[in-house]
Amino acid sequence: MTSQSFKDEVAAIVVAAGSGVRLGREIPKAAIEIAGVPMVTRAVQAMFAGGVDKVVVVAPEAWVERFGHFFTAYPDRVKVISGGLMRQDSVRLGLAHVGAAGIVLVHDAARPLVPPFVVDRVIEAVRDGAPAVIPVVPQVDSLRRIRRSWTVAVDRSTFLRVQTPQGFDTSTLRRAHSNAGDKEFTDDATMCEAIDVPVTTVPGDGLAFKITDPMDLVLAEVIARGDS
Ligand code: C5P
Repeated sequence: MTSQSFKDEVAAIVVAAGSGVRLGREIPKAAIEIAGVPMVTRAVQAMFAGGVDKVVVVAPEAWVERFGHFFTAYPDRVKVISGGLMRQDSVRLGLAHVGAAGIVLVHDAARPLVPPFVVDRVIEAVRDGAPAVIPVVPQVDSLRRIRRSWTVAVDRSTFLRVQTPQGFDTSTLRRAHSNAGDKEFTDDATMCEAIDVPVTTVPGDGLAFKITDPMDLVLAEVIARGDS
């Protein structure tokens, strides 16, 4: 590949190093099967189906080898590495392995059912020149702000829920991470905003929901079985 074609390459970092304590299981959340396929495998397959060329999977330290077995079908396209303490540490470690890819996506393994068209949308927006892109969905519940001992209603139409994959011009994301230091960020777009990079939104999708508690697993199982 020439250096120009490397620049056109799209890499994804699939962060899967969380413990999944909230699901009350012995194994990491990303290794839990949904309709017979581990969550992390589904997440990686969605990246490829959406136009990603190669994936760095960030796994819990003790699980790197076992996670590697999930991806024997893609020896040249998937690399499994060990993660860090916080999500942003796992992303930073992944960034060191994306090489010269000009576009990088960061995706939660905990969102295994993300439709490929959302992945494609994010990639296209970065290709069109946006340095940081997030998929978003409307806030459907009413919202209230906590004020000491009481609560006040807020206008929900002014809020959006942010999903992944988030997409970036790779050099922008590298700059954002080197600027972050010890400060904790909930996602990579917020980290980019901290260095004054504008964040572009594209429509997300309900199927990109994050599996957090046991009910989410039940829902994912039903949806995945309906698909197969
Ligand atoms: O805990 P939560 O569901 O918010 O984590 C979001 C994603 O970040 C998950 O896919 C999880 O595996 C990943 N993560 C990570 N490294 C950490 C913590 C979370 O890769 N230290």
